[in-house]
Amino acid sequence: AERTFIAIKPDGVQRGLIGDIIKRFEQKGYKLVAGKLMWAPKELLMNHYKDLADKPFYNGLVAYMASGPVFAMVWEGKAVVATGRKILGATNPLDSAPGTIRGDYCIDVGRNICHGSDAVETAQREIALWFKDDELNDYEFADKKWIYE
Ligand code: GTP
Ligand code: MG
Repeated sequence: AERTFIAIKPDGVQRGLIGDIIKRFEQKGYKLVAGKLMWAPKELLMNHYKDLADKPFYNGLVAYMASGPVFAMVWEGKAVVATGRKILGATNPLDSAPGTIRGDYCIDVGRNICHGSDAVETAQREIALWFKDDELNDYEFADKKWIYE
């Protein structure tokens, strides 16, 4: 099944949004495979954002992500990578639709609450970066047949 890496950034943790963000993925029907609160080392963050290394906001981005604990998660389900990005909303919160996490809770792109993998291959890389294999839980939802046709 498809998996994605979702992280609640330090501003989301500080603003008490962990429960709300988990709830949105749960109520959709997605399955939580892993989750942990961690203060990410700079090297991990630099690797996570390596494709953005030449951007003018890169140093600020890494400092923002290192400014407090992050709640890192893996979610599983049909089309969870693309649908997860829809649940988060557009990168710039001024463009995110109301009803999305970013649309509901934030204003600045540099304080946009959450991260979601942008493609299936990216998700695989990010999950391997943030989690050990034995932190990923394989299990079945009892109500699976009520969610999937
Ligand atoms: P993520 O899910 O966080 O990866 O967002 P994204 O995939 O929609 O955007 P991208 O990967 O291009 O950028 C990663 C993060 O960098 C964003 O979520 C923002 O926090 C930050 N970012 C992107 N563009 C800007 C910008 O123009 N200025 C600032 N300050 N931060 C930016
Ligand atoms: Mg991204």
